[in-house]
Amino acid sequence: MNNGFTFAIIKPNAVRTGKTGPILAMINEGGFEITAMRMVRLTKLQAESFYNVHKGKPFFEGLIDFMTSGPVVVMILKHENAVEEFRKIIGSTDPAKAEPGTIRKTFGVSVQMNAVHGSDSPENAASEASFFFSGFERFHS
Ligand code: RTP
Ligand code: MG
Repeated sequence: MNNGFTFAIIKPNAVRTGKTGPILAMINEGGFEITAMRMVRLTKLQAESFYNVHKGKPFFEGLIDFMTSGPVVVMILKHENAVEEFRKIIGSTDPAKAEPGTIRKTFGVSVQMNAVHGSDSPENAASEASFFFSGFERFHS
């Protein structure tokens, strides 16, 4: 099972407002190694496929509109217990409820515009990473 990496997105609100650099700094300071990274504007189909588990929920259409509203930064992050450790440094889905010092507390502006995504299981990290990156785009130190 994958325990060593997670998949992350810096969401459109954070990219648009110039928070990419500060968020990358927090990721590095958290001890994560960036092993793949790219800026991309999601198509509606890509966003719907990525968030397929939320299809039918009341926030789904708004989430798709938001996630396609501008470029995002997608990346693969290496760390021991990466999925769990990354969710610790990003904090709760709702920035208002996130712990001080977390990425979402610092840069999130609402439940929807919560600055970052982090995979919720090693299995989903593996499928999300391969959704965006081929093998030759992934690096290891
Ligand atoms: P993510 O997948 O983005 O890392 O966030 P998460 O696991 O903490 O939250 P999840 O339940 O997977 O929801 C995915 C994204 O949908 C938006 N959302 N809006 N009630 C709402 O308006 C609502 N609930 C969720 C957020 O952008 C959330 O990150
Ligand atoms: Mg999630």
